[in-house]
Amino acid sequence: MKLTLLAGFALAASTVLGSGVALADNVTLYCSADETWCQLMARGFEEETGIRVDMTRKSSGETFAQIKAESSNPKGDIWWGGTGDPHLQAANEGLTEEYMSPMRDQLNDWAIRQAEAAGNKTIGIYSGALGFGYNKDLLEKNNLPVPACWKDLTKPEYKGHVQMANPNSSGTAYTTLATMVQLFGEEDGFQFMKDLHKNINQYTKSGSAPIKAAGLGENTIGIVFMHDAVSQSASGFPIVTVAPCEGTGYEIGSMSIIAGGRNPDSARKFYDWALSAEVQSRAKDVKSFQVPSNKAAEQSPLAPDLSTVKLIDYDFDKYGSSEERKRLLKKWDDDVSVLPQ
Ligand code: G6P
Repeated sequence: MKLTLLAGFALAASTVLGSGVALADNVTLYCSADETWCQLMARGFEEETGIRVDMTRKSSGETFAQIKAESSNPKGDIWWGGTGDPHLQAANEGLTEEYMSPMRDQLNDWAIRQAEAAGNKTIGIYSGALGFGYNKDLLEKNNLPVPACWKDLTKPEYKGHVQMANPNSSGTAYTTLATMVQLFGEEDGFQFMKDLHKNINQYTKSGSAPIKAAGLGENTIGIVFMHDAVSQSASGFPIVTVAPCEGTGYEIGSMSIIAGGRNPDSARKFYDWALSAEVQSRAKDVKSFQVPSNKAAEQSPLAPDLSTVKLIDYDFDKYGSSEERKRLLKKWDDDVSVLPQ
C-alpha cells in the first residue's frame, strides 16, 4: 500500500525552482513493520518536518529482494523495520550505506552490536521474541490440547490448524527457520520444519498474518513474534500468547539507509528522528509491543516480559550473512515446501 501525505506546512520546507514551481523535500520509505506503525511513522515524520514521505509496506524478505533488484537504480531512500537478518544481508551485499547517527549513545547495547556487526550499515530499532499464539475458542471447539512447546505443533491432532509465513518473503518465518536450526541442530531443525509442514494450513506472505487470521477465527495457531500475538489479545481477540518450552529465538528489528538513494539528507533525518525516545514511545499507541532500542523510550505494560522467556543466543552474524540465509532458504524450498501435506 502506498501512502503519500503532504502536511500543510510542507511548502515552507520546499525548494522553489526558477520556474516558480515548489518542490517539497521528500523521502521514500520502505517499511517492514506492521502497517499501522508504518503509517504512524510516515505521517509523524511528515507532519513534524514537512518532508513528504512516500511509504510502501512490504515484508522483510520481499523488501530485501526489491532493494537488490533496484540496486542499479535505487528508488528507496530508507528501510525501516522488519527483522534484522535481511538488513544484515543487505549490508553484506553493499546495498545499504554506513551512517553514524548522533543518537547512538541513547541506544541499548544490542542495537549498537547489530550496527557494529554490519560496518554501521544498519542499526537496531526494536527487539522481540518468537513464539506462537492460539485462538482459545477455536482450540476448545476442536477439542485440542493446549500447546506449550514447539514440538507440540507437529502432533497429528493439529493438522490443518497451524499457520506461519513463508520464510522467503517474511522475516518472522526466516527467524523461525533459523531458530529451529539453532535450537535443535540442522538435521533435527529441518526435520521439525518437515513435520510442522504436515500441519500447516497456509504459508502467508506477511509474518503477522497467521495470528491476525487466528484473531478473526480463521485459523487456530499462528507462529509469530510474541508481541504480535499480544497485540491481538490487546485488541480484544481471544488469543493466548505462548513462550515455547524449549526456548526460542528473537529478532533485532532494524533500519538501514539504502545505498545510492535519491534523498540521502532526508533519509538521515528520518534515521535520527526514528531513534529518538519520544518517537519510539509511540509504538504502543498502535499496539506494537516490541522492546524499543532507545533506553529512554516507554514500553507498554502489556508488552511480553522477555526476562521470563528462555532465549537462545541467536547468531545474527551467521544467520544474517548472505551465504547462510540463501542456503537455508534454498534448502527449505527444496526439502520442505515441496513435500505433500
Ligand atoms: C511484524 C512484527 C515485527 C517484525 C515484522 C516482520 O510486523 O511486529 O516485529 O519485524 O513483523 O515482518 P515480516 O512480514 O517480514 O515477517
